[in-house]
Amino acid sequence: MANPHPIDPAAFRDFEHAGWQSIPEQYHDAFAGLTTQAIGPLLAAVGVQGGTRLLDVASGPGYVAAAAAEQGAVVVGVDFSAAMVARARGRYPALHFQEGDAEALSFPNNSFDAVVMNFGLLHLGQPEQALAEARRVLCPGGRAGFTVWARPEEAVGFRIVLDAVARHGDPNVSLPAGPPFFRFSDPQECMRALREAGFVTPSVVQVPQVWRLGSLDALFENMQGSTVRTAGLLRGQSAEALDAIRSAMREAMADYRKGDTIELPMPAVLASATKPQF
Ligand SMILES: C[S@@+](CC[C@H](N)C(=O)[O-])C[C@H]1O[C@@H](n2cnc3c(N)ncnc32)[C@H](O)[C@@H]1O
Repeated sequence: MANPHPIDPAAFRDFEHAGWQSIPEQYHDAFAGLTTQAIGPLLAAVGVQGGTRLLDVASGPGYVAAAAAEQGAVVVGVDFSAAMVARARGRYPALHFQEGDAEALSFPNNSFDAVVMNFGLLHLGQPEQALAEARRVLCPGGRAGFTVWARPEEAVGFRIVLDAVARHGDPNVSLPAGPPFFRFSDPQECMRALREAGFVTPSVVQVPQVWRLGSLDALFENMQGSTVRTAGLLRGQSAEALDAIRSAMREAMADYRKGDTIELPMPAVLASATKPQF
Protein backbone atom coordinates (compact mmCIF):
# COMPACT_ATOMS: atom_id res chain seq x y z
CA MET A 1 0.00 0.00 0.00
CA ALA A 2 1.28 3.48 -0.83
CA ASN A 3 2.42 5.60 2.10
CA PRO A 4 -0.56 7.92 2.84
CA HIS A 5 1.90 10.66 3.90
CA PRO A 6 4.80 10.54 1.44
CA ILE A 7 7.63 12.91 2.29
CA ASP A 8 7.97 15.87 -0.03
CA PRO A 9 11.45 17.10 0.94
CA ALA A 10 10.93 20.52 -0.66
CA ALA A 11 7.64 21.13 1.17
CA PHE A 12 9.14 19.92 4.44
CA ARG A 13 12.19 22.14 3.96
CA ASP A 14 9.96 25.18 3.28
CA PHE A 15 7.96 24.45 6.43
CA GLU A 16 11.12 24.13 8.56
CA HIS A 17 12.70 27.17 6.92
CA ALA A 18 9.68 29.41 7.56
CA GLY A 19 9.63 28.18 11.16
CA TRP A 20 13.28 28.86 11.93
CA GLN A 21 13.19 32.24 10.20
CA SER A 22 10.51 33.39 12.64
CA ILE A 23 11.98 32.26 15.98
CA PRO A 24 15.71 32.99 16.31
CA GLU A 25 15.31 34.99 19.55
CA GLN A 26 12.71 32.67 21.01
CA TYR A 27 14.87 29.63 20.24
CA HIS A 28 17.81 31.24 21.99
CA ASP A 29 15.77 32.16 25.06
CA ALA A 30 14.24 28.70 25.37
CA PHE A 31 17.01 26.34 24.27
CA ALA A 32 20.42 27.98 24.74
CA GLY A 33 20.76 26.59 28.25
CA LEU A 34 19.91 23.11 27.02
CA THR A 35 21.49 22.41 23.63
CA THR A 36 24.79 23.92 24.78
CA GLN A 37 25.13 21.09 27.32
CA ALA A 38 26.02 18.66 24.51
CA ILE A 39 28.72 20.84 22.96
CA GLY A 40 31.69 19.66 25.06
CA PRO A 41 31.06 15.95 24.34
CA LEU A 42 30.30 16.71 20.66
CA LEU A 43 33.55 18.61 20.10
CA ALA A 44 35.51 15.95 21.99
CA ALA A 45 33.92 13.21 19.86
CA VAL A 46 35.25 14.80 16.66
CA GLY A 47 38.67 15.53 18.20
CA VAL A 48 38.61 19.33 18.09
CA GLN A 49 41.89 20.95 19.08
CA GLY A 50 43.91 24.04 18.17
CA GLY A 51 43.90 24.49 14.39
CA THR A 52 41.10 22.01 13.61
CA ARG A 53 39.13 23.23 10.57
CA LEU A 54 35.59 22.76 11.80
CA LEU A 55 32.27 23.13 9.99
CA ASP A 56 29.24 23.67 12.26
CA VAL A 57 26.19 22.70 10.18
CA ALA A 58 22.74 23.98 11.17
CA SER A 59 24.65 26.37 13.42
CA GLY A 60 21.60 28.31 14.63
CA PRO A 61 22.69 31.06 17.05
CA GLY A 62 26.30 29.83 16.75
CA TYR A 63 26.96 28.17 20.09
CA VAL A 64 28.97 25.21 18.79
CA ALA A 65 31.13 27.27 16.46
CA ALA A 66 31.86 29.69 19.31
CA ALA A 67 32.85 26.92 21.73
CA ALA A 68 35.10 25.32 19.10
CA ALA A 69 36.75 28.67 18.34
CA GLU A 70 37.51 29.03 22.05
CA GLN A 71 39.34 25.72 21.80
CA GLY A 72 41.44 27.11 18.97
CA ALA A 73 39.52 25.64 16.01
CA VAL A 74 39.15 27.56 12.76
CA VAL A 75 35.38 27.57 12.37
CA VAL A 76 32.69 28.12 9.79
CA GLY A 77 29.01 28.02 10.72
CA VAL A 78 26.35 27.35 8.11
CA ASP A 79 22.58 27.58 8.51
CA PHE A 80 19.76 27.86 5.96
CA SER A 81 17.97 30.55 7.97
CA ALA A 82 19.19 34.09 7.28
CA ALA A 83 17.64 35.15 10.59
CA MET A 84 19.67 32.53 12.47
CA VAL A 85 22.84 33.52 10.62
CA ALA A 86 22.22 37.18 11.55
CA ARG A 87 21.71 36.14 15.19
CA ALA A 88 24.98 34.17 15.17
CA ARG A 89 26.93 37.00 13.51
CA GLY A 90 25.52 39.49 16.02
CA ARG A 91 26.49 37.28 18.90
CA TYR A 92 29.94 36.26 17.67
CA PRO A 93 31.13 39.01 15.28
CA ALA A 94 34.65 37.61 15.04
CA LEU A 95 33.45 34.27 13.64
CA HIS A 96 32.36 33.32 10.14
CA PHE A 97 28.70 32.33 9.62
CA GLN A 98 27.02 31.96 6.26
CA GLU A 99 23.72 30.89 4.77
CA GLY A 100 23.65 27.44 3.26
CA ASP A 101 21.84 24.14 3.11
CA ALA A 102 23.03 21.10 5.07
CA GLU A 103 21.88 18.93 2.16
CA ALA A 104 23.86 20.85 -0.49
CA LEU A 105 26.97 22.37 1.09
CA SER A 106 28.80 24.99 -0.96
CA PHE A 107 32.30 23.91 0.18
CA PRO A 108 34.83 21.97 -1.90
CA ASN A 109 35.61 18.31 -1.26
CA ASN A 110 38.09 17.54 1.55
CA SER A 111 38.02 21.02 3.11
CA PHE A 112 37.39 20.34 6.83
CA ASP A 113 38.92 18.19 9.57
CA ALA A 114 35.63 17.93 11.46
CA VAL A 115 31.94 18.47 10.70
CA VAL A 116 29.34 18.71 13.46
CA MET A 117 25.60 19.19 13.65
CA ASN A 118 24.09 19.88 17.09
CA PHE A 119 20.35 19.05 17.05
CA GLY A 120 20.10 19.67 13.31
CA LEU A 121 19.74 16.26 11.65
CA LEU A 122 16.18 15.71 12.93
CA HIS A 123 15.05 18.86 11.10
CA LEU A 124 16.12 17.72 7.65
CA GLY A 125 13.92 16.25 4.95
CA GLN A 126 16.88 14.31 3.53
CA PRO A 127 19.23 13.53 6.41
CA GLU A 128 21.10 10.90 4.36
CA GLN A 129 21.99 13.65 1.89
CA ALA A 130 23.38 15.81 4.73
CA LEU A 131 25.53 12.92 5.97
CA ALA A 132 26.82 12.36 2.43
CA GLU A 133 27.64 16.07 2.18
CA ALA A 134 29.45 15.99 5.53
CA ARG A 135 31.56 13.09 4.24
CA ARG A 136 32.29 14.89 0.98
CA VAL A 137 33.62 18.07 2.60
CA LEU A 138 35.67 16.17 5.20
CA CYS A 139 39.31 15.32 4.61
CA PRO A 140 40.20 11.63 4.62
CA GLY A 141 40.47 10.65 8.28
CA GLY A 142 38.22 13.58 9.29
CA ARG A 143 35.51 13.17 11.90
CA ALA A 144 31.77 13.80 11.74
CA GLY A 145 29.50 14.06 14.78
CA PHE A 146 25.88 14.91 15.41
CA THR A 147 23.45 15.07 18.29
CA VAL A 148 19.70 14.50 18.39
CA TRP A 149 17.20 14.13 21.21
CA ALA A 150 16.93 10.80 22.98
CA ARG A 151 13.58 8.99 22.67
CA PRO A 152 10.64 10.72 24.38
CA GLU A 153 10.61 8.03 27.08
CA GLU A 154 13.93 9.55 28.17
CA ALA A 155 13.74 13.13 26.86
CA VAL A 156 10.98 14.02 29.28
CA GLY A 157 10.01 17.39 27.80
CA PHE A 158 8.96 15.62 24.61
CA ARG A 159 7.23 12.83 26.51
CA ILE A 160 5.15 15.37 28.43
CA VAL A 161 3.98 17.30 25.38
CA LEU A 162 3.37 14.23 23.20
CA ASP A 163 1.47 12.42 25.96
CA ALA A 164 -0.69 15.49 26.56
CA VAL A 165 -1.51 15.79 22.85
CA ALA A 166 -2.26 12.06 22.60
CA ARG A 167 -4.63 12.22 25.59
CA HIS A 168 -6.36 15.54 24.99
CA GLY A 169 -5.86 16.47 21.35
CA ASP A 170 -5.13 15.20 17.86
CA PRO A 171 -1.63 13.73 17.33
CA ASN A 172 -2.30 13.46 13.58
CA VAL A 173 -2.85 17.06 12.56
CA SER A 174 -1.88 17.81 8.99
CA LEU A 175 1.70 19.05 8.69
CA PRO A 176 4.18 18.72 5.81
CA ALA A 177 5.43 15.15 6.24
CA GLY A 178 9.06 14.73 7.26
CA PRO A 179 11.23 11.87 8.47
CA PRO A 180 10.27 10.61 11.96
CA PHE A 181 11.36 13.17 14.57
CA PHE A 182 12.96 10.47 16.74
CA ARG A 183 14.47 8.40 13.92
CA PHE A 184 18.08 8.99 15.03
CA SER A 185 17.28 8.54 18.71
CA ASP A 186 17.94 4.87 17.92
CA PRO A 187 21.70 4.22 18.13
CA GLN A 188 21.45 1.38 15.58
CA GLU A 189 19.85 3.73 13.08
CA CYS A 190 22.60 6.31 13.64
CA MET A 191 25.29 3.72 12.98
CA ARG A 192 23.47 2.31 9.97
CA ALA A 193 23.04 5.75 8.40
CA LEU A 194 26.66 6.74 9.08
CA ARG A 195 27.95 3.51 7.52
CA GLU A 196 25.64 3.93 4.54
CA ALA A 197 27.02 7.45 4.03
CA GLY A 198 30.51 5.96 3.81
CA PHE A 199 31.78 6.52 7.33
CA VAL A 200 33.65 3.91 9.38
CA THR A 201 33.88 3.07 13.10
CA PRO A 202 30.63 4.78 14.07
CA SER A 203 29.99 5.13 17.77
CA VAL A 204 26.98 6.36 19.72
CA VAL A 205 26.78 7.53 23.33
CA GLN A 206 24.14 9.23 25.40
CA VAL A 207 24.82 12.67 26.86
CA PRO A 208 22.85 13.58 30.00
CA GLN A 209 21.25 17.02 29.82
CA VAL A 210 18.80 18.81 32.11
CA TRP A 211 16.30 21.47 30.99
CA ARG A 212 15.91 23.93 33.87
CA LEU A 213 12.64 25.82 33.54
CA GLY A 214 11.29 28.64 35.67
CA SER A 215 7.58 27.82 35.81
CA LEU A 216 5.06 25.03 35.28
CA ASP A 217 3.93 26.73 32.06
CA ALA A 218 7.41 27.16 30.61
CA LEU A 219 7.48 23.84 28.77
CA PHE A 220 4.19 24.53 26.98
CA GLU A 221 5.29 28.07 26.15
CA ASN A 222 8.68 26.93 24.85
CA MET A 223 7.20 24.15 22.73
CA GLN A 224 4.58 26.52 21.35
CA GLY A 225 6.82 29.52 20.74
CA SER A 226 10.34 28.23 20.16
CA THR A 227 10.11 25.04 18.08
CA VAL A 228 8.95 24.22 14.55
CA ARG A 229 7.37 20.77 14.24
CA THR A 230 6.09 20.56 17.82
CA ALA A 231 4.74 24.10 17.53
CA GLY A 232 2.95 23.03 14.33
CA LEU A 233 1.41 20.11 16.18
CA LEU A 234 0.12 22.47 18.89
CA ARG A 235 -1.13 25.02 16.34
CA GLY A 236 -3.29 22.32 14.79
CA GLN A 237 -5.26 21.66 18.00
CA SER A 238 -8.67 23.12 18.79
CA ALA A 239 -8.82 25.85 21.45
CA GLU A 240 -10.44 23.45 23.94
CA ALA A 241 -7.87 20.74 23.27
CA LEU A 242 -5.05 23.24 23.64
CA ASP A 243 -6.33 24.32 27.07
CA ALA A 244 -6.51 20.69 28.18
CA ILE A 245 -3.00 20.00 26.80
CA ARG A 246 -1.59 22.99 28.65
CA SER A 247 -3.20 21.88 31.94
CA ALA A 248 -1.97 18.31 31.51
CA MET A 249 1.54 19.57 30.83
CA ARG A 250 1.47 21.77 33.94
CA GLU A 251 0.39 18.79 36.01
CA ALA A 252 3.12 16.53 34.61
CA MET A 253 5.75 19.22 35.13
CA ALA A 254 5.00 19.35 38.85
CA ASP A 255 6.66 15.94 39.27
CA TYR A 256 9.98 17.48 38.25
CA ARG A 257 10.00 20.46 40.60
CA LYS A 258 13.29 21.05 42.40
CA GLY A 259 13.01 24.07 44.68
CA ASP A 260 12.26 27.10 42.52
CA THR A 261 12.87 25.39 39.20
CA ILE A 262 11.56 22.48 37.19
CA GLU A 263 14.31 20.12 36.02
CA LEU A 264 13.48 17.91 33.05
CA PRO A 265 15.89 15.17 31.94
CA MET A 266 16.54 15.81 28.21
CA PRO A 267 19.40 13.51 27.21
CA ALA A 268 21.00 13.74 23.79
CA VAL A 269 22.15 10.91 21.55
CA LEU A 270 25.64 11.71 20.23
CA ALA A 271 26.84 9.82 17.15
CA SER A 272 30.26 10.16 15.54
CA ALA A 273 32.31 8.42 12.87
CA THR A 274 35.36 8.76 10.65
CA LYS A 275 35.76 9.34 6.92
CA PRO A 276 38.05 6.56 5.74
CA GLN A 277 41.58 7.41 4.57
CA PHE A 278 41.06 5.69 1.20
C1 LIG B 1 17.40 23.04 16.80
S1 LIG B 1 18.27 24.28 15.94
C2 LIG B 1 19.95 23.89 16.40
C3 LIG B 1 20.81 25.11 16.51
C4 LIG B 1 22.19 24.91 17.10
N1 LIG B 1 22.98 23.96 16.34
C5 LIG B 1 22.19 24.53 18.55
O1 LIG B 1 23.13 23.84 18.95
O2 LIG B 1 21.32 24.96 19.32
C6 LIG B 1 18.21 23.70 14.29
C7 LIG B 1 18.87 24.63 13.28
O3 LIG B 1 18.93 23.91 12.04
C8 LIG B 1 18.76 24.83 11.00
N2 LIG B 1 18.39 24.05 9.80
C9 LIG B 1 17.29 23.29 9.62
N3 LIG B 1 17.30 22.72 8.40
C10 LIG B 1 18.46 23.12 7.81
C11 LIG B 1 19.05 22.86 6.55
N4 LIG B 1 18.44 22.09 5.63
N5 LIG B 1 20.26 23.40 6.27
C12 LIG B 1 20.87 24.22 7.18
N6 LIG B 1 20.34 24.52 8.38
C13 LIG B 1 19.16 23.97 8.70
C14 LIG B 1 17.70 25.77 11.53
O4 LIG B 1 17.66 27.01 10.84
C15 LIG B 1 18.12 25.92 12.99
O5 LIG B 1 18.99 27.01 13.16
